[in-house]
This record gives sequence, C-alpha cells and structure tokens, in this order.
Amino acid sequence: MKKLIVKGGRTLKGTVTVSSSKNSILPLLAASLLSNGEVTLEALPAIRDVSTMIELLRRFGAKITNEKYSTVKIDPTTAMFVEAPYEIIKTMRASFIVLGPLLAKMGRARVSMPGGCAIGNRPIDLHLEGLKKLGACIDIEEGYILAKASRLRGNKISLNFPSVGATENLMMAASMATGETVIENAAREPEIVDLADFLRKMGADIHGDGSDTLHIIGVDELKPVVFRPIPDRIEAATYIIAGAMAGDTVEVKNIVPDHLEIVLSKLRTAGVQMEVFDNRCIVKGCKRFNAVDFKSTPYPGFPTDLQAQMMILLCLAEGQSVVREEIFENRFMHVAELKRMGADIEIKNRKAVIRGVKKLKGAPVMVSDLRAGAALLLAALVAEGQTVLNRIYHLERGYDNFVDKFIGLGADLKLSNEESLKK
Ligand code: EPZ
Repeated sequence: MKKLIVKGGRTLKGTVTVSSSKNSILPLLAASLLSNGEVTLEALPAIRDVSTMIELLRRFGAKITNEKYSTVKIDPTTAMFVEAPYEIIKTMRASFIVLGPLLAKMGRARVSMPGGCAIGNRPIDLHLEGLKKLGACIDIEEGYILAKASRLRGNKISLNFPSVGATENLMMAASMATGETVIENAAREPEIVDLADFLRKMGADIHGDGSDTLHIIGVDELKPVVFRPIPDRIEAATYIIAGAMAGDTVEVKNIVPDHLEIVLSKLRTAGVQMEVFDNRCIVKGCKRFNAVDFKSTPYPGFPTDLQAQMMILLCLAEGQSVVREEIFENRFMHVAELKRMGADIEIKNRKAVIRGVKKLKGAPVMVSDLRAGAALLLAALVAEGQTVLNRIYHLERGYDNFVDKFIGLGADLKLSNEESLKK
C-alpha cells in the first residue's frame, strides 16, 4: 500500500497552480450524457474520481477520447446501456448523479445504491423523492435503484436540505423534462452554477442557479459544447492554508476569490496575511494564529470540505477554537490522528474544541478519507520530524498531482511502496 513520507519543518515558497474542480467535473461528465453529439471538457486533472466517472460513461457505451488526458471528448450517442454497477458506485458515491441524466435521455436506469462512506451514511432520499415528483417510477431491487420514465414532466420540488448531489441530479433530469420545474431550497455551491452554465451552453433553459430557487424549462434536445470547469476552490484553500502555516511566501494561482469569501475572511480573522487578486492570492507564512470559531454549513457558508484543513491551522493557534461540523455526522476522523501528533482536541458529538499547542510532532498516521488526508498532510508539513501517511489513495482521488505540487513549493515529500516503514 502506497505511503507518503513527509519531513516536517521545510519552508514553502514559490507558486502553485490550482486544477479544475473535481466536484464540478463529476456532474459535468454525467451531464454530457444528455448531449446529442460529442462534448469536449478541457483542463481535466488526472485524479482517480475523474477516471472513475469516465470509466462509468464507457460502461454505458459512450465513446471517450482523452487526447492529452486534460482534454476529454465524450460522445454519448453510442451509449445504449443504463446500468451503473455496484463495483463502480461503491468506489465513488458521487457517480450516483448519473441517475438523472440516464432517466432524462434513455428513459430508464439501473443504478446501484451508493451506500454510506467514512464520513456518513449519505442517504439518497432527496434524489429519489425529487425524481418521483418529475414522474419517474422508482423501485429498489437487490441494492439497485430501478428507475423508469417514458418522459419526465416538470414539477415543483422542495428539498428539505440543500443537497448538492440531489440538486445536480434533479437539474439534469428537469433540463429535458416537459414543462417547468421549480427546485426550492436548492444547493447554491459554485459547482451548481458551473453545471447550470454547462447545461445552458448546451441549450437548456435554467435560471436562478446560485440562489436557493432554480427555474428550469425542459427542452427536447441538448447540443454538444466545449467547456472548461471552474477551478477547485477546496484545493485552492488547501494550498493557501499550507502557505499560511509553512510559508515564507506562496502564490496560489487559478482561483476564484468569490468562491472562497467566508474561508478567506476566517483565515484573515485567524491572522493570515494574504494579498488577493482577481485570479490568484499571495499568502505569507506566520508562526502563530488567533483562535477562530466556525461551523460548516451549506454554501455560501464555510465548506465542510475545508473543515479538517482549517482545524490544522487552529491546532497551532493561541487559545481555544470551537468547530462545529453541521453537514456530515462523522467528519472528525482526522482528530484521533492529530492527537497522536500532539494536538489538543476534544470532540463532543459534532463539536470539536481545539486548544492551540506550540507544535505538532511527526507520527505514522492513517488517512480515512480525501479531506482528512489533506489535513494530515498539512499537519505533517509543519510537524517536527517525520510523518508517514498511510492509505494515501484517498488523496489521489481528489488532489491533482499533489506530491509534485508540494515538492515544487519546497516540501520534503516522498512516496513509498514499502510495506512497513520504520519511523
Ligand atoms: C457533495 O456531496 C460533495 N461531493 C462533497 O464533497 C461535499 O462534502 C458535499 O457535497 C457537501 O458540500 C461532490 O460534489 C462529488 P449533499 P453530496 O448531498 O452531494 C444529506 C469531497 O470531499 N442528504 O449535499 O453527497 C447528507 O446526509 C466530497 O469532495 C440527505 O439527507 O452532499 C448530508 O448530511 C465529500 N438526503 C448532507 O445532505 C439526500 O438525498 C449533504 O449532502 C442527500 C443528502
């Protein structure tokens, strides 16, 4: 099993360029199924989740050509299968968002239920209730969702939680339904707006994306487009936090500051020195931070996908910080590992109380999920001594070329396949 060996204490400096957003690319790939011709997606990162979704489209029979990998062409007109198998869905639950486009385009789908994951049980009730509102017949058989709809019909849907995935599934389904669909309490994430931009470019009639109410008037055909996804705001903030903790001066390029408003504001409150320009930011390292309280909430609130990374900075702050994880029920798994590195954190249900310590110490740690992995990597960069991160395949799912990017900033990282690494 691949491990990452990090020698802490190196000063980071230089420039890092953020890749396209994983959480935008996945719905865009699913939405390409709706096109009546070949779709081109540009600047795709070489991360595992993207290749998993591409593999799924191939299973449907779509023709995929990845010229240089970063530019991928998807021709969905050859697709004739509608089964998304458990073996793929279990490795990436986000692939469940193929259900909406399959139903809209093919009139039927057999999609494995995603099941839970490390951070929570990840239900799909909002997806299924919404699709039923659009006229789909939904059955469950042997762990699979069997869905049928000769033609989806627009309707009014009110989500009892602004679920990102449910909003995406329903947007894609409604874009080719007959009549108007209104989705209330819709997710407002930038990735929702990117998906709406993509669908509009294909000819969809969508308004209100970025607000909590979407208006979609279904059309009969969606045409091919060339599209470049937005930058990954979570990757961007991960490098900004790295620069704040371990930097001399780090420039993070290819960012959209508007997508990071509350994050940048919390970082400033914590004492991080940053100069933010229209598509990049220059962050200066500092040794101590102010304690900051925050809670993860749906966009435009503080993103749950940055809760773990922000906690690392608070481990080294002066005083006590309180972090509340209000999106997922089990997203503090990085805490046990951080305590082994000397962090002072107490968990009570979805609340973490962090008392700043002078330093963290390197240790062998276990990565449990993508964002916990990113947080442990940040901790390792500033810890005294060596840290060995086990199960780094989680990181390879969503951080493009992260080893080279961090080495490029001066970090001392080494990948190893050795079975057991003595400290
Ligand atoms: C998306 O997951 C992201 N994944 C997640 O990022 C992100 O953490 C999450 O949104 C929240 O921002 C992708 O975009 C691929 P949700 P998603 O549906 O769509 C409840 C990462 O690290 N819920 O908004 O699955 C659910 O239990 C990943 O990149 C229902 O109750 O998130 C959870 O508490 C991790 N019923 C909350 O909504 C449903 O039918 C948020 O889930 C659906 C969701």
